[in-house]
Amino acid sequence: TVVRREDYAPPAYWIDTVELTFDLDPAKTRVLNRMTLRRNAAVAAQPLRLDGEELNLARVLVNGAGCSFKMDAGQLVLDNLPEGNEPFTLEIFTTCAPEKNSQLMGLYVSQGTFFTQCEAEGFRRITYFLDRPDVMASYTVTLRADKARYPVLLSNGNLEEEGPLPDGRHFAKWVDPHRKPSYLFALVAGNLVAREQRIVSRSGKEHLLQVFVRRGDMDKTEHAMQSLIASVAWDEARFGLPLDLERFMIVATSDFNMGAMENKGLNIFNTKYVLANSATATDTDFANIESVVGHEYFHNWTGNRVTCRDWFQLSLKEGLTVFRDQEFSMDLCAEPSARAVKRIEDVRVLRTAQFPEDAGPMAHPVRPDSYVEINNFYTVTVYEKGAEVVRMMQTLVGREGFARGMKLYFERHDGQAVTCDDFAQAIADANPDSALARQLEVFKRWYSQAGTPRVRAEGRYDAEARRYTLTLSQHCAPTPGQAVKQPFLIPVALGLLDAQGRELPLPESQRLVVLADASATVVFDDIDSEPVPSLLRGFSAPVVLEYADSDAQLLTLLAHDSDPFNRWEAGQRLALRRALAAVRADGPVAQPLDAAFIDAMRAVLRHDTLDAAFKELTLTLPSETYISEQLEVVDPQRVHAVREAMREQLAQALHADWAWAYEQHRDNGAYRPDPLSAGRRALAGMALTMLCLDARQSGDAVWPGKAYQRFKDAGNMTDRFNALSALVVSGHALAREALPRFHAMFRDEALVLDKWFALQAGAPDRGGNILPAVRQLMAHPDFQLRNPNRARSVIFSYCNANPGAFHRADAAGYVFWSDRVLEIDRFNPQVAARLARALDRWKKLAEPYRSAAREAIARVAAQAELSNDVREVVTRALSED
Ligand code: ARG
Ligand code: ZN
Repeated sequence: TVVRREDYAPPAYWIDTVELTFDLDPAKTRVLNRMTLRRNAAVAAQPLRLDGEELNLARVLVNGAGCSFKMDAGQLVLDNLPEGNEPFTLEIFTTCAPEKNSQLMGLYVSQGTFFTQCEAEGFRRITYFLDRPDVMASYTVTLRADKARYPVLLSNGNLEEEGPLPDGRHFAKWVDPHRKPSYLFALVAGNLVAREQRIVSRSGKEHLLQVFVRRGDMDKTEHAMQSLIASVAWDEARFGLPLDLERFMIVATSDFNMGAMENKGLNIFNTKYVLANSATATDTDFANIESVVGHEYFHNWTGNRVTCRDWFQLSLKEGLTVFRDQEFSMDLCAEPSARAVKRIEDVRVLRTAQFPEDAGPMAHPVRPDSYVEINNFYTVTVYEKGAEVVRMMQTLVGREGFARGMKLYFERHDGQAVTCDDFAQAIADANPDSALARQLEVFKRWYSQAGTPRVRAEGRYDAEARRYTLTLSQHCAPTPGQAVKQPFLIPVALGLLDAQGRELPLPESQRLVVLADASATVVFDDIDSEPVPSLLRGFSAPVVLEYADSDAQLLTLLAHDSDPFNRWEAGQRLALRRALAAVRADGPVAQPLDAAFIDAMRAVLRHDTLDAAFKELTLTLPSETYISEQLEVVDPQRVHAVREAMREQLAQALHADWAWAYEQHRDNGAYRPDPLSAGRRALAGMALTMLCLDARQSGDAVWPGKAYQRFKDAGNMTDRFNALSALVVSGHALAREALPRFHAMFRDEALVLDKWFALQAGAPDRGGNILPAVRQLMAHPDFQLRNPNRARSVIFSYCNANPGAFHRADAAGYVFWSDRVLEIDRFNPQVAARLARALDRWKKLAEPYRSAAREAIARVAAQAELSNDVREVVTRALSED
């Protein structure tokens, strides 16, 4: 059944307090839930309907006495409740079976430890409840369990009491001082150890920070703890938001559907975003941990103190919190160039994942209007595009104005469950003279309209009048259910360069043009010669820019733009242009790159002041996914062949430069995961891959030999994995020796094995060899389909991240995909539904891929017993809309 935003109605009852008592047992956990409720006087009297799922109901008492109830559509319905608005108590006694919970929603067991995941609608799998975010209650939780097996008993808030019980059991009682919606409830029980740190925050308060992991993982917790300490300090310094708890806990689990969860005071994390040391984790892992730890911590204010009225408002907390974690990571960068690198990486995610979503069957506004399964809407649109919408607000009101807006938001809404409108209103009201306040209704179309706007720019130079005229116009294609789009409010940051690449001075008002109508014209006077425009600096809006810049203009920007984002973007546009020309050309793929492009790339690589990280990003060609998005009809094999040809050409033409770059950047002293040295490792790793790729063509054995040596000697995982990857990606015979060696070295490190699986499933296809390899990997004793990280490392790395291997003319990739979607759906619908999205863009495919993909999707859709999750995805994929 479809849930619609417009059908929102306030709850008929409030729940003021909840006392939960758990007798934890993997096979049968007993849950006693004592609540005080009262009728919501603002709503007509009606029965109480409580959500529940897969629960065994034993007893219901109202004010201590038995009462009548019935079940209706999975809900527990009570219609003989006391009249009037006085509070009453409701006691519900249920049991559930955590060890059978393979969905990983609600209460489940992972490696002998109990965990919960309640967002969005998992609490109803623990007890009957008004499982909606606008019902906020005070929780007291008592956990009882066998002391030897579950020595650590955790829940939200403060530990009030603990002690022994008969029969080797013990208990712990937790009281959360903050009211919260049910999706923020959490408990953990198991045999864990904690790294602890006491901190004194700015306000002078003492707090205890803890990171709980399995005993053997203690040596991988320092980075998460440092990231948490930095997060606490940053939120206080940048936004004046202090830690409001005496104790803040992070717990890691290896079985988790998503990245992490911001439960009040008790964040639960996928191990992937907690555990790291230099021997087992790469620079990317370190950076991800910093941003996810920050993200969950920042939710404590943006999400927990102020939460969502309903799940359509998800971006209220997610878009804002992604924006905050992006800013956090940028503010931690010591050098401005590292900030720019982070921005480029974030934009790359947006354009390779969110733009396709916005153009496909699952397109939805940042604030969706309807859903079948809310879990399908934890998307790059809600998260990453939502963050861009918040970023545009900051651009429009300035950094200080935005901080003022945040202050007003908390003054107005602390302790409430609110909407995206409330947030935008607070930012606008705190900045009454801004373009945002003047055109708030237009701006808010970013929340209501799906699709990626395209902004067309045209420049005209009049030498006589010394005048440059820039015309901007916008257009947005229809998306499912939205045939016609109103204009968006688009902040376009820009600059003008002269032909020598010097920045022309412009008044501030001209450096940020706000496009709010179908088109606008800006006139620049006193311009001495035809300028080179640098448009959409810093990617100031989530749009596609259409500007017919010449190669000469792009080369000028690449060499000189003061805006590092646009400098990178110029290189991408030059590469994209060549890729598209080669894809569209007839006949076999020849050498797609010309001398001008290669020389420009050499100049970047050899540049004496640019950062290594920036060089690595600039020399990375646009992904196959991104190239494909630019085409009306996609032949994935052609796209793959073209990109590989470009890469090989760069490998060969810049051979001496890659060798130089490798030698220059390979030694970085003792390992530290800071952006500068991480950038050097990334560039050295790229150089090594290029040198091995070139060796593949030339038959040279020196570089693969060096890569193998490096693989054996490396002092950290980043260098070791990059060397292994160079051998695997270039398909060198030494990969067959390195891979088993790597496995033997890390056989007990689950997260490292995930990398080992992912590298092989994501390797370049050579004559159709990857699909059989994937089947073999699934037969490996270390493969576990039920562990989401492991399943993703093989199946998603193949279906979602390896287009050249997945799109096979014989359709075997699609058949494999449909088998796995159906297989996983039987025990974990959320993971299955993510995988189901691998064929979102099937309508764009050329034949024979298109028909084969359609058939595979139809095969999934034909299955009678599908979860709502997968059903919604495949139904939308097949819809004619
Ligand atoms: N709120 C979490 C985060 O972004 C994500 C939880 C999503 N869980 C889910 N089952 N959909 O940090
Ligand atoms: Zn979040």
